[in-house]
Amino acid sequence: MYESRPESMSSFWMPFTNNRDFKAHPRLLVSAQGMYYKDVDGNAVLDGTAGLWCVPCGHAQPKIVAAVSEMVGQLDFAPTFQMGHPAAFDLAERLMDYTNHKFGHVFYTNSGSEAVDTALKIALAYHKARGEGGRTRLIGRERGYHGVGFGGLSVGGIGPNRKAFGPLLPGVDHLPHTHNLAQNAFSRGEPEHGAELADELERIVALHDPSTIAAVIVEPVSGSTGVLVPPKGYLKRLREICTKYGILLIFDEVITGFGRLTTPFAVDYFDVEPDLMTTAKGLTNGVVPMGAVFSKTFIHDAFMDAPAGIELAHGYTYSGHPLACAASLATLDVFAEQGILDNAKNLQPYWEDAVHSLRGLPHVIDIRTIGLVAGIELAGIPGKPGARAFAAFKQAFADGILIRTTGDIIALSPPLVLEKKHIDELFGKLATVLKNLD
Ligand SMILES: Cc1ncc(COP(=O)(O)O)c(C=O)c1O
Repeated sequence: MYESRPESMSSFWMPFTNNRDFKAHPRLLVSAQGMYYKDVDGNAVLDGTAGLWCVPCGHAQPKIVAAVSEMVGQLDFAPTFQMGHPAAFDLAERLMDYTNHKFGHVFYTNSGSEAVDTALKIALAYHKARGEGGRTRLIGRERGYHGVGFGGLSVGGIGPNRKAFGPLLPGVDHLPHTHNLAQNAFSRGEPEHGAELADELERIVALHDPSTIAAVIVEPVSGSTGVLVPPKGYLKRLREICTKYGILLIFDEVITGFGRLTTPFAVDYFDVEPDLMTTAKGLTNGVVPMGAVFSKTFIHDAFMDAPAGIELAHGYTYSGHPLACAASLATLDVFAEQGILDNAKNLQPYWEDAVHSLRGLPHVIDIRTIGLVAGIELAGIPGKPGARAFAAFKQAFADGILIRTTGDIIALSPPLVLEKKHIDELFGKLATVLKNLD
């Protein structure tokens, strides 16, 4: 059991972390149960972020723990290249049920980044298979986050993530983001203003010609850039324009999938269907790494008309890993058996009111909520972008709550098994942090 500090912390090059600052002031977690982590000093830390948006059913769900333990003893690994194992097929069928058969097929990956790059490759190969190989352009959106592979980075729109890694993919364009503090501040659910920003796709289409465009990818709700909720009617408009020009629409549901908006997927919440959907995180309740690309049947079938042979030259050693499949099957059981979505739905109004009760506290310039997500935007310290929110993050952890920050925005996304008392604790402590923030 790991319960004490490591002897040395120098060799682990930590991801998306200020390594020098962290190693000077480490925050170490040693166990987790339900809504709480325990840190290395034995303090309870309320999980306000479901880890990294990835633990919808709460920590250490007995059924998931048992399923993974059992599978590791039975089948620790099995290839899925020209081979298979039953759980991978069972899971695919169960996932189709979970989407209410809005999709017909699923391709397994190991992460959200891989799911995104896989979806982009499927989009390109789909057009090629149909004799439209000129459709090579990919359209993302400013402030979009689609992971860290070169495909996802190229369609992503977060400057600091991109700037050290060029050249990125050629032939990529970006829609404008939809964040509009002047008109939409302190919104609950979809903000009123901005549906017309989807029409920017018409401009991009006119510029490049539709015969050159393969796909548009957006997060239905942008998470990592600080909770940007789509304006009313925006996603439907995007869908219409893509359909009009034969462009595939990809929803990146790595964050919004598996209950975050109180529905199985954002597809259900917004009643807009993309052609491909990327997922990860909640797919296995975060227990074993896994991602998945959901595909409409017509895309899959376009590959099956080719002469006999491997239809899609793509895959990962660990696509459909037995432990990940076991974790995901158990996660779907837990969703159903424990009424996880019902709990999220019932608590959503209480959650929303609690978040908006922070309005008026020092530095708070916007609050936005949807499902069990909240973005709390703070005024930045001039010349030190992100410093104020990061100070809040550190203080919050010291006070026993885990929050997440991006720039000067606090993003909250608790496990969906939370209760009113957890909401009270989270916002009681966060209010104190904000009141005392420089
Ligand atoms: C929308 C979205 N896409 C892709 C990713 C990348 O997922 P991963 O970190 O599993 O590669 C993330 C991660 O937060 C995400 O939020």
